[in-house]
Amino acid sequence: MTTAYIHPLDIGSVHLENNVTLAPMAGFTNVAFRLIAKQVGGCGLVASEMVAALSPDASHNSKRFAIQTRTVPEEKPVAMQVYGREPSWCADIAQRLHGAGADIIDLNCGCPVKKAKQSGSGVALMREPEQVGKIVAAMCAAVTCPVMVKMRLGFDAENQNAIEVGHAAVENGAVALCVHARTGENKHGTDIDLAGLAAVKESTTVPVLANGDMHVAENIRRAKDEAGVDGYSIGRAACGDPWLFRNLIAELTGGELYNPSIVERRDLLEQHFDIIVSLFGEERGCRIMRKYTFFYCNGLPGVRKFRNDFMQIKSVEQFNKVVSNFFGQLRS
Ligand SMILES: Cc1cc2nc3c(=O)[nH]c(=O)nc-3n(C[C@H](O)[C@H](O)[C@H](O)COP(=O)(O)O)c2cc1C
Repeated sequence: MTTAYIHPLDIGSVHLENNVTLAPMAGFTNVAFRLIAKQVGGCGLVASEMVAALSPDASHNSKRFAIQTRTVPEEKPVAMQVYGREPSWCADIAQRLHGAGADIIDLNCGCPVKKAKQSGSGVALMREPEQVGKIVAAMCAAVTCPVMVKMRLGFDAENQNAIEVGHAAVENGAVALCVHARTGENKHGTDIDLAGLAAVKESTTVPVLANGDMHVAENIRRAKDEAGVDGYSIGRAACGDPWLFRNLIAELTGGELYNPSIVERRDLLEQHFDIIVSLFGEERGCRIMRKYTFFYCNGLPGVRKFRNDFMQIKSVEQFNKVVSNFFGQLRS
């Protein structure tokens, strides 16, 4: 399955069967969704949400950490992401993530929320290339797996230094860069900057993954043709549509597009719910599942009522009833 756009890719020592990857998303890319993205979508790499690098005396044995780092062999290879700014703390968490099963460690230099900016983490690191170098060096010394960096084009429009940050990362051991082709102040919905992306790609020898609106084949073609990137990282659009990866790959390799049947959508919804409940428990699992459910049913008749009913569910029994009613009325 090799074409100009879709091909295998090596991230350091880790071989990806294809170069279409799932982006890290807090609250979404837990093991349940990653497994589905891999098994149903066939993406080349899945990514965990960011995991905070806490001070060594903070407990990493919390339930949250256990959930964040849970992985299963069927989803591999999996990248797990470190969020922080203190090199030794980042190294410590990188080691724990690798120990938990991460095949690749990723450093978050892109999160634009206020808390990240105030703490000097996430996109705030774009203002400190030297610090990025120190963190990457410490993480590389702590793990035997590849380390990569996910970043933006810059902290803001006036400070677009992705090339410099990329150099600092690569000189200190990073083997790939994932570039969200916007700055930290650009909202989703603004156009991505392909020229900026091209400049980063041209400046480095390591693989560059393009991120930001890569959910349509035309954007992937442009990222390859105009920026020469090596792969693509897809976030929001994958949340409710795990078939997206497979359809993008089909579209770019001349394959047939896949339109899941209603029965398949229901089966997958139920399978997804089962894994979520086993991970998070019944009540929390129901709340978490709300985020994904609507997508499985998007465009189907009666989805508005289903959506309203689904917002009320608090148990497996209620889930089963609401899902049966919805899919039952579709059959009839
Ligand atoms: C709900 C949500 C959570 C996110 N969490 C993370 C995260 O934990 N780490 C990270 O590097 N980026 C995170 N991102 C950013 C995405 O990885 C990605 O860069 C962004 O959504 C742009 O890609 P897209 O257009 O394909 O969605 C998050 C985005 C969303 C919408």
